[in-house]
Amino acid sequence: MDNRLALYPGSFNPFTFGHLDIVERASRIFDRVEVTVADNTSKVSFFSSEERCRLIQECTEHLSNVSVVPFKGLLVDHARSSGADVLVRGLRQVSDFDFEFRMAFANRRLNPDVETVFLMTTEEHALISASIVREIHHWKGDVSSFVPEPVLKALKTKQS
Ligand code: PNS
Repeated sequence: MDNRLALYPGSFNPFTFGHLDIVERASRIFDRVEVTVADNTSKVSFFSSEERCRLIQECTEHLSNVSVVPFKGLLVDHARSSGADVLVRGLRQVSDFDFEFRMAFANRRLNPDVETVFLMTTEEHALISASIVREIHHWKGDVSSFVPEPVLKALKTKQS
């Protein structure tokens, strides 16, 4: 298929070096990659959807085939309306697999035409998670090795 669009969905709250690593890998494989930023009502939001989108745009400025789009609702519906037939998810470790496996099957049942593709992060970023970043930041720890510069700056403005 020409001009294949892959979605890289997630909460990205906040966007980490691990996420950036996956976007960079996906952008080398697919013609176009959309970072699909979920306005996820079931999760405690740290950055607003608008803030997350703006930060991811800044962090991915060097990738010409990457766009950033907010979304609400079912991912497969968004995939259908945007013309994407691939969902990219990052895998860090075996413990990610259970949730990812269930989500991929649910998405496949909802829309069999959309394929989930898993990409592995580099070992260096295998232990980074957004929740760990939020926890360290909460206790005023140094997260500079976990998140790109724009996110680091934005986190500093949130420091209470
Ligand atoms: O970064 P996350 O929080 O692991 O991302 C999860 C996300 C946002 C991709 C997932 O919760 C999602 O797709 N939410 C939208 C609702 C949906 O379509 N769920 C899939 C069926 S389980």
